[in-house]
Amino acid sequence: MKDLEDVLREAISEGQPRTHRPWKNILIIVEGLYSMEGEMCNLKAIVQLKKKYKAILYVDEAHSIGALGKTGRGVCEELGVNFDDVDILMGTFTKSFGSVGGYVASSVDIVHKLRYCSPGMIYATSMAPACAQQALSALRELQTESGLQRVSKLHSNSNFFRAELQKLGLCVLGAQNSPVIPVLVCCPAKMPVFSRMMLERNVALVTVFLTPQVAVVIVGFPATPLFACRVRFCISAAHSEVRPSVLFGDTPGRPSGSGQEDWWHCLSHRHQVS
Ligand SMILES: Cc1ncc(COP(=O)(O)O)c(C=O)c1O
Repeated sequence: MKDLEDVLREAISEGQPRTHRPWKNILIIVEGLYSMEGEMCNLKAIVQLKKKYKAILYVDEAHSIGALGKTGRGVCEELGVNFDDVDILMGTFTKSFGSVGGYVASSVDIVHKLRYCSPGMIYATSMAPACAQQALSALRELQTESGLQRVSKLHSNSNFFRAELQKLGLCVLGAQNSPVIPVLVCCPAKMPVFSRMMLERNVALVTVFLTPQVAVVIVGFPATPLFACRVRFCISAAHSEVRPSVLFGDTPGRPSGSGQEDWWHCLSHRHQVS
């Protein structure tokens, strides 16, 4: 938060780069849930800063809408922040809603401006009715009893999987309830090996008809610093509480849970140190 406050103070005191005229608006842009870290932004503190320095707050809820909060309303609900304190709430329909497109929720003025001035609204074709219906149906489903159960199942599945990875001594990042669970691997050479391993075991797919699989995404340089490469596991409400050893499979001759599996060696730092 100190860094953000320093940036805000500098922007206010220095103004625009060449003319030093004051900025008309200062925008703070954050993500609700960071997909590379599985961490939530510190929204309460950011709201305080935005009020103190009269900035505009924009929250990208791509990974948090439909996933965080008791009823899936996102990071504001999860962290107990008043929705009115965020000026622009933006999200995509491509994740929790299983469709395409997205939304911007803001004041009437900002929404009108976007409708009439943004190239996306002027030049793009409109959303296909089937996709609009898919997003709408997902939104309605979230408001039902079964929707509430799905959100709570998503949290319990995610927390279970995270705890199991931690028990295996892996370097797991991110917050409770986050369905994005990154594990720091820190060894670029292991990344393609792990990816291939998951592909061969059919794990690296989101769903195979009725059998939901865990989505496994490897992320390395230049998307991360060279030695901060990581594997992201994405959990869904359709999973059951499944242990990594069951999901990723045994290594022949090495009993599951023994800490000897090949996938564990790929994810762990231990033998790198020794
Ligand atoms: C933070 C963030 N914002 C927005 C998007 C846009 O999503 P899409 O292009 O799928 O609508 C993504 C996609 O991964 C994202 O990670």
